[in-house]
Amino acid sequence: MTPILRTVADLRALARGWRAAGEVIGVVPTMGALHDGHLSLARRARAECDRVITTIFVNPKQFNNPEDLKKYPRSEEADAALLATVPVDAIFAPPVEEVYPEGFITNVTMQGVAQPLEGYMRPGHFDGVATVVTKLFGMTLADKGYFGQKDWQQLQVVLRLVRDLNVPVEVVGCETIRETDGLAMSSRNVRLTTEGRAKAPILYAAITAAATDIRAGHADRMAIREAAETMRKAGFERVEYIELRDAETLMPSDDPRRPRRMLAAAWIDGVRLIDNIPV
Ligand code: PAJ
Repeated sequence: MTPILRTVADLRALARGWRAAGEVIGVVPTMGALHDGHLSLARRARAECDRVITTIFVNPKQFNNPEDLKKYPRSEEADAALLATVPVDAIFAPPVEEVYPEGFITNVTMQGVAQPLEGYMRPGHFDGVATVVTKLFGMTLADKGYFGQKDWQQLQVVLRLVRDLNVPVEVVGCETIRETDGLAMSSRNVRLTTEGRAKAPILYAAITAAATDIRAGHADRMAIREAAETMRKAGFERVEYIELRDAETLMPSDDPRRPRRMLAAAWIDGVRLIDNIPV
């Protein structure tokens, strides 16, 4: 079985040995409840690095909603079994006090790319992500960090963070893994009711149709309005946003010569789903 480490001291001792031997270390940060999306990152890390560490830590700092934190699925044993199939060299699953001990007062705060969309809907979320990712990079002594495009804005936040703070980690963005009906895999999908699960793929279908229309020359606004309408008609109780943005800065963009991304967040049966695609 893969060793599961609980303290930074144990993790560091292991990582220092690997570094001394000249081995390249890859880290895959996760909050557990692992699925094939997470495993695809671990497999990519396995292919590109000598050593792979997967971290499992449900980071309280990035939850703006205490109910969401409480309900977040936890399944360490099943996660370890899945990671053994990759395999990874170590799992780092620390308790909260190990990451945020008494007296913890330092936080990473970001503007710009961290402000719109998820940053606006979930105040403090990206500061929590930026803080824990900075810490995980420091704890694991990683050379490379693997992140999913599923959380596109988070990926841009982490890319900006390592540039701004000179963190010596190469950030690798990996493709979104989907169910056969198009629904992006997510730990939150297990919370969907049978009806919710049946309707959930309409999020991806709607933004894909809008992106196709925009590429064919339709007006951005019209295409987006239609996508929102499709989702509401299908039974999504709330469409928080559907936006066409500059892929890197996430600022509004009507310049089709720059890489653009369509990003959406919507609620179905009390579960918040997000997705994004290139346009
Ligand atoms: P979590 O939601 O567990 O996701 C861990 C990583 O898996 C993220 O980089 C995420 O983008 C990626 N991922 C999730 N679903 C995916 C899918 N369907 N296809 C490809 N990749 C997918 O994101 C977090 O945790 C946290 O914010 C974290 C970065 C660990 C910091 O706490």
